[in-house]
Amino acid sequence: MYLTPEEEKLFNGERGGTCQKAMEILAALGDIYGADRLIPIKSAQIAGVSYKTIGEAGLEWISDLKGKVAVPSILNPAGMDRECWQEMGISEEFAERQEKIIRAYEALGVRTECSCTPYNIFDNLAGFGDHVAWSESSAISYANSVIGARTNREGGPGALAAALVGKTPNYGFHLDENRIPDVLIKVEAELHDSDYGALGYIVGEIVGDRVPFFELKSKPSKDELKSLGAAMAASGAVALYHVVGASPEAGKYGAPEERITIEERQIKEIYSSGEPDLIAFGCPHSSVSELERLARLLNGKKVRKEVWVCTSRAIKNKHPELIRKIEKSGAKVFCDTCMVVSPASERFSCMMVNSGKAHKYVPNLCGVRSIMATTEECVEAAVRG
Ligand code: F3S
Repeated sequence: MYLTPEEEKLFNGERGGTCQKAMEILAALGDIYGADRLIPIKSAQIAGVSYKTIGEAGLEWISDLKGKVAVPSILNPAGMDRECWQEMGISEEFAERQEKIIRAYEALGVRTECSCTPYNIFDNLAGFGDHVAWSESSAISYANSVIGARTNREGGPGALAAALVGKTPNYGFHLDENRIPDVLIKVEAELHDSDYGALGYIVGEIVGDRVPFFELKSKPSKDELKSLGAAMAASGAVALYHVVGASPEAGKYGAPEERITIEERQIKEIYSSGEPDLIAFGCPHSSVSELERLARLLNGKKVRKEVWVCTSRAIKNKHPELIRKIEKSGAKVFCDTCMVVSPASERFSCMMVNSGKAHKYVPNLCGVRSIMATTEECVEAAVRG
């Protein structure tokens, strides 16, 4: 990969050890994936925050870095709510290690909002056609597919390296030719709400890391696209998809020749019933309209099981009345974290979720049985004795 004279200086350590480490990561990625050069990025979103996932080695690695990020950068969810960690059942030792990780990122100039939906907090992180380096898989999918920005599936270190240098190697989804759809997904069902997560769960397993092109009977909202992309990124490795009439680049392409039909029966098969001991909403982090819907569904009811609603702290702080309405039911609204990356969910035996992504990850990453249900069914299970 070609480096400019200034990039050579970074690579040779003339701007310090941290920039040198970052350039080494970017140069290695560029060489592996055949990038011609580095390109400027508008923002970075950095995963690898929860002490549950990165542990002591990750904490040490981040703490050793010095310097400041060159572009607006934001953290992914951590392993606990930074204010209500005791209520989550997090140990003091974990909380102390987790705070050290967040403060180490903060010292590098990374914003500590700790959310997988940064696009619902800030308007200026990514726009159509912007190059970015994001690393949480649902955020990547949303950036590429719903915003029309361009990012690869960065790992945490790759996104942090890009943040420090302000550039990323030019390959993969930064290039027009890799954004062309590979496979037509024709959906023979009217979809609503969690059905998009169920659809994503099915399609991700089928298409792996290819680019699906959806023809749907209904027009999805942005929250529904968020659920679809998150599930496909978890059950497969989908980083970009197009939806006719609903995503910004779909109109540029005709339908691919390879065609897969998904029937209503397949969507229904993802759902099941049962008696969970935890019901968790907000994977990806709940938007304001998702919280409003939950508040309506919970209005006048009392939950009789543990119920978590995960969202960003920015949304919680901006909408105290909405949060109060949800919490009046006994449900707990947690920020900075989620049911998957926090170790707090591991003490439960069965979790009910309305998210295709959580349904995929909860058994593997938390060791907890998962039941996928609609949002209404989750609320019904929560208030049942
Ligand atoms: Fe976000 Fe956690 Fe789901 S990071 S996408 S809420 S697994």
